[in-house]
Amino acid sequence: MIINNPKINLPILHLVGDTADEMGLECYVIGGWVRDLFLHRESQDIDVVVVGSGIVLAQAVASKLGKAHLSVFRTYGTAQVKKNDIEIEFVGARKESYRSDSRNPIVEDGTLEDDQNRRDFTMNALAICLNKSRYGELLDPFGGLQDMDECTIRTPLDPDITFSDDPLRMLRAVRFASQLGFYLHSETFDAICRNRERIQIITKERVADELNKIMLSRRPSVGWKLIDKTGLLPLIFPELNNLKGVETKEGKGHKDIFLHTIQVLDNVAEKSDNLWLRWAALLHDIGKPKTKTWDEKSGWTFFNHNYIGAKMIPRIFRSMKLPQNEKMDYVIKMVNLHMRPIHLIEEEVTDSAVRRLLFEAGDDIDDLMILCSADITSRNQEKVERFHKNYELLKQKMVELEERDRIRNFQPPVRGDEIMEILHLPPCNQVGEIKTAIKDAILDGVIPNEYEPAKAFMLQKAKEMGLLT
Ligand code: CTP
Repeated sequence: MIINNPKINLPILHLVGDTADEMGLECYVIGGWVRDLFLHRESQDIDVVVVGSGIVLAQAVASKLGKAHLSVFRTYGTAQVKKNDIEIEFVGARKESYRSDSRNPIVEDGTLEDDQNRRDFTMNALAICLNKSRYGELLDPFGGLQDMDECTIRTPLDPDITFSDDPLRMLRAVRFASQLGFYLHSETFDAICRNRERIQIITKERVADELNKIMLSRRPSVGWKLIDKTGLLPLIFPELNNLKGVETKEGKGHKDIFLHTIQVLDNVAEKSDNLWLRWAALLHDIGKPKTKTWDEKSGWTFFNHNYIGAKMIPRIFRSMKLPQNEKMDYVIKMVNLHMRPIHLIEEEVTDSAVRRLLFEAGDDIDDLMILCSADITSRNQEKVERFHKNYELLKQKMVELEERDRIRNFQPPVRGDEIMEILHLPPCNQVGEIKTAIKDAILDGVIPNEYEPAKAFMLQKAKEMGLLT
């Protein structure tokens, strides 16, 4: 079949084909770029497989293009050519064979067919010829097109072989299902279940890359449900696995926290593409199993689960090789604060409580409100309606108070060095005490967020502390 899609007629691909012709080499565009061409998805990275040396063809293409950037990776036998925003990766066709006693394959030069055989899924094994006489010819030996039509993820070879060759592919299968809204073929699914333990030989970094892609998909719950159903969950994220299940006492059960969590995650994903807000959604109730208690009067309670959950995050991020930086701090903050808006909504909304929330959340308040609203997964329609009404009231109050008092990026109007200067104090606890008192007075609405009233308040406080006569 000849493909006649404007994208395959990119001048740079013709140039690659013509150069290969001059050198007497066969070459094909292959993998994700071809898959995405049929799925109408944007894709910048082009993989070209050459029957022969990928490096030699890349060098010739780069010198023809002029002003292109060439990187050669001799150890891997690959080379990359970058021109403007297009990146082409060249690799020689390979044949890989694995021995049962070693994880590393024996790699030999091979034919296009050998190369297609070693790929992960039928939809990723599609190749389009770039040589002039066969330009645009599609080679689809495993029915990848039909699988894409049927939204099915299937391996080209026996899935036990494909997955044991590279166990990360099990997670890639789940990730594609989540990203593309595809189904796992039953043989693919069964093979993941059988081979799941092998995921443990994969580096945490590669696992985290796939998890982040699942998290960024339109409905991340699809990925997490599959991770659970295939039995991968306890192996890659035991703390999330601990959220599963329902316990019942005296006829009272609590929600299945895992199912609730992935619903909250989908709700957040509908409103925001922020990867770290999505992680906060996944982790918002992670402290619940540790704090679960039962008593006859209150039933099931999870006292302080936000706080305990926030404390668990550094260890989770470290062990999953997620970033140990301000992104993690943001997730900790979101998990810690996630109950606050709900408490405000359920209880009386005082100005001072709203000011404190604005102060603590700062610029992340809008994200916190998205998380809080996403957390309402009750089936009780009356409860949900009441929540949404109060939620809007709270938002309105936040806008009013923010306009009036500018609390979000609040810095106390009287600074520490000024306190020391006026009161002739060295750096000491009392300076901190006065600063906190000024901050509290503003947040509680005792004084406005302005310089003169804050200074007067400081002098008054200093008097009370016996620092001024
Ligand atoms: N591949 C594979 N096994 C892997 C990773 C990749 O067989 N574990 C093959 C697939 O043919 C894949 C190609 O290498 O299409 C390129 O891999 P990569 O760039 O990682 O993924 P894409 O399929 O392009 O998808 P994405 O860019 O969304 O990650």
